[in-house]
Amino acid sequence: MTRAELQALVRTIPDFPKPGILFRDITTLLIDGRGFAAAVDALVMRARPHEVTLVAAIEARGFLFGAAVARALGVGVLPVRKAGKLPGPRVGIDYALEYGTDRLEIHEGAVRPGDRALLLDDLIATGGTALATTRLLREAGAEVPAALFAIDLPDLGGADLLRAEGVAVDSLMV
Ligand code: PRP
Ligand code: ADE
Repeated sequence: MTRAELQALVRTIPDFPKPGILFRDITTLLIDGRGFAAAVDALVMRARPHEVTLVAAIEARGFLFGAAVARALGVGVLPVRKAGKLPGPRVGIDYALEYGTDRLEIHEGAVRPGDRALLLDDLIATGGTALATTRLLREAGAEVPAALFAIDLPDLGGADLLRAEGVAVDSLMV
């Protein structure tokens, strides 16, 4: 499947969840069996050179790609969750979104010393989510050599911010 075919499976919905936001909806890609497989395969191909020991997938849409990529790489998947969802002792970080603020958490001890975590999410916009997750993972003791996204919205500058933090960033479409 070509990049253009993949891109055609993403639906754009204006003014969601707030006026002025052009929402890139991946549900139309996810329900297409060929499209989902092609997206996961392409992410796995980009992930392999980084030799990661863990995939850190960001709630909620990042879970869908992150679990599939981790399975293909044969490594575990760490769910990076929104506040209040994890039952055990946890560490977290607050961050700003394109349309609000939120908090992300992981369990204490979820990251082992020497872990190389691949950050996985459906989309990077301002980079607030990915930067916060990178900091959280690094504070927990992991290296974060790379981050992969199905979609990069380059006008919002998030990927460049992440690169400035020393993370290799790649995406399937812009
Ligand atoms: C979306 C998206 C990314 C984030 C990107 O998640 O899945 O995680 O926004 O935005 P940023 O680069 O400006 O931080 P959202 O918080 O809407 O949550 P969801 O996955 O639960 O829908
Ligand atoms: N997350 C942040 N910005 C977004 C957008 N424009 N579309 C979909 N998800 C997003």
